Amino acid sequence: MPLVPPYIEALRPYEAGRTADSIRRQYGLTRVAKLASNENPLGASPRAAEAIRRSLEGLNLYPNGGLDLREVLARAFEVKLENVIAGSGSEGIMSGIIRAFLCDDDEVLTTEAAFIGFQVLARSRGVKYRTVPYRDWRYDLPALAGQINAHTKIVYLANPNNPTGTIFTRQEFEEFYRHVPERVLIILDEAYFEYAKDNPQYPDSMHYRYDNVITLRTFSKVYGLAGVRIGYGFAHEELIRNLLKVKLPFEPSSPAQAAGIAALSDHEFLRHSLELNARGIEYLTSGLERIGIRVVPSQANFVMTVLPGEGEACRIFEELLAQGVVVRPLRAFGLPDCLRISTGSDEDNTLCIEAFRRSYAAIAGSSNHVR
Ligand SMILES: Cc1ncc(COP(=O)(O)O)c(C=O)c1O
Repeated sequence: MPLVPPYIEALRPYEAGRTADSIRRQYGLTRVAKLASNENPLGASPRAAEAIRRSLEGLNLYPNGGLDLREVLARAFEVKLENVIAGSGSEGIMSGIIRAFLCDDDEVLTTEAAFIGFQVLARSRGVKYRTVPYRDWRYDLPALAGQINAHTKIVYLANPNNPTGTIFTRQEFEEFYRHVPERVLIILDEAYFEYAKDNPQYPDSMHYRYDNVITLRTFSKVYGLAGVRIGYGFAHEELIRNLLKVKLPFEPSSPAQAAGIAALSDHEFLRHSLELNARGIEYLTSGLERIGIRVVPSQANFVMTVLPGEGEACRIFEELLAQGVVVRPLRAFGLPDCLRISTGSDEDNTLCIEAFRRSYAAIAGSSNHVR
């Protein structure tokens, strides 16, 4: 259609994971473990939920563009208000970055099979999108540095990375940064920051407040607020000032902002969520490995498995679905041989490993590709 630019025509709309209800109905199941979207199996932070209830009284009023949350974040992270932005999820802010900083002949550089949300946003701008392969399922930062050219405007790094769950280390990032010109904006997407922050090798981007680094974080994961859409970012005030120009004036919504503020003080919920996740990662990793499935060591709230081929990945995905376990196929990311499994409740994780064992046996029985 002549009205639609070719780079938009070429996009595929984002496909959200199936809901537990639709799987339950389709397969006539009583129990479904939804382990497809890296959500918090404990639900939402209770303090955040209570704050949303309280915010309902002001629903007739326009929100203040995230100002209250920005003030709280500025105090909590010891930066100026001018260095903080809040938005409708970290993807809302990412979308602003694409709009604010990319010109037509700029290029975006990242890893192959990067977080799908970023892939879609960057490609929708119609600029050149370049990638380098993973090395051992980790960002190959030296290779990325070598690919920066005169047109490179944005380098996108997710740490921990979705879908691999891997991190790059402080030393690797510092070495990489030395090769990045100041005219290149580095997006450090730390959606899974809380899960990795206690790893001594992990480079907390708040220690790297360089003028060309923007940090993105979210309340969607460890605080359990994915449905509310609230995220935040830190950067040099010039970057924030320009991002605020393109941000939709009234995002985030008032309930979302209230939830974010309350969630930040919910240390108890954070601790529970991290404990459950650590247990889940250990259980899923060892359980899958015992079955003979290759698992990439994860620093996030999901693990990625590498199967012998696309056919096996599809069949296991379908077999799991029929048993009430929903995982994420990674074909759309660009990794057709892989499946991603989010940690769930202890019961979900047990169901998942049992279903994997049965599915793998069923596939192995009918294929000589599976070792
Ligand atoms: C790496 C990464 N960045 C950003 C997001 C999106 O977060 P939000 O819900 O804050 O938009 C996700 C969600 O899955 C993610 O995996």
